[in-house]
Amino acid sequence: TTYALILAGGSGTRFWPLSRNAKPKQLLNLFGGTTMLEQTIARLDGLVPVENILILTNAQQEAGVREVASMLPPENIFAEPAKRDTAPAVALGIGLIAARCPDALMMVLPADQLIQDVGAFQAVMRDALAAAEKSDGLVTIGIKPTWPCPSYGYIERGSRATIPGLVCDQMPAEVKRFREKPSTDLAEQFLAQGGFCWNAGMFVWSLQNVIRELSTHQPELAAFISEIRRSSNVAATVAAQFPKLTPISIDYGLMEKARRVLNIEATFDWDDVGSWISVAKYLEKVGCDNRVNTPVSEIESENNIVFNARKGSHVALLGVDDLIIVQTEDALLIANRHQADAIKKLSSMLPPEL
Ligand code: GDD
Ligand code: MG
Repeated sequence: TTYALILAGGSGTRFWPLSRNAKPKQLLNLFGGTTMLEQTIARLDGLVPVENILILTNAQQEAGVREVASMLPPENIFAEPAKRDTAPAVALGIGLIAARCPDALMMVLPADQLIQDVGAFQAVMRDALAAAEKSDGLVTIGIKPTWPCPSYGYIERGSRATIPGLVCDQMPAEVKRFREKPSTDLAEQFLAQGGFCWNAGMFVWSLQNVIRELSTHQPELAAFISEIRRSSNVAATVAAQFPKLTPISIDYGLMEKARRVLNIEATFDWDDVGSWISVAKYLEKVGCDNRVNTPVSEIESENNIVFNARKGSHVALLGVDDLIIVQTEDALLIANRHQADAIKKLSSMLPPEL
């Protein structure tokens, strides 16, 4: 039996003023279509039945998640009682799934990635599930790196794995090393050396394998999983125990340490939409210009990204280049396009109501 755990509790502050605490990027309509969370669910159609898709979020975002994910049984959406990063969140998901089906296979999926080739995505995930079932490894998905980005995990691929009885399109590679968020210098070395890919942030494993690895490397989380499985009142157990867990991401907490990690290369397009620049790139790719929801009048203005969410208002530009301009009902952002990543820092300085 296959389960999917969607992690939808991140903050996405790089999209301020459009993103707010209760409305992070996975709940935004950035591309004029559906939200990234809806797309993440839709991408599983035919691969995982909706009864087996679980979403973990937090109290602030819960209402927004429920609205968008109304196709799931309501009990499959769970709000964490405190923010403890992704390793505790994944452990909670493992516990919830184990309570329903102790020998399940599961995939962990971020809620905030843009992937359009659903066919290729599903083919890769089927291979990953087969590898997870037939081996004792934790399966990662690799993205071909294009620049030494310091905010991704790096995976060094080794030899082709030998997995008895495995039938799949793409045989996984053994992973020599998993290194989360290296410095730009180290990332440059990795790219110069070759054989590295980016970690897509998706993981596929059997409950048995992941629980065994957690028992070795994160005994606190393994104990938490056992408590959930034994509990007759899961909500009460989670409310009491979850806030006590040590915050750490699954990448640092488990993937860097696990004994056997496997990797399958993604054959699909992938973008984790880290900033307004990614949105602009995507819009260019699909043939729209850099304006969402808004008419813009401009003279001698180049390379600006304009996002206007204020109905009935108009944007006009004269002789300005390389700006990010975002207007909402209660805020206006004007930023230098080359400093898109620092919007996160800016958003932390704002008054609390924003
Ligand atoms: N439920 C829940 N609770 N979800 C969370 C929490 C939490 O406390 N924190 C983050 N998330 C969600 C985010 O919404 C996102 O969907 C996913 O978990 C990953 O968290 P990020 O905070 O976005 O991680 P990252 O981007 O720094 O790094 C991860 O993703 C990269 C690819 O995008 C790592 O796995 C890297 O290795 C990877 O390269
Ligand atoms: Mg991310």
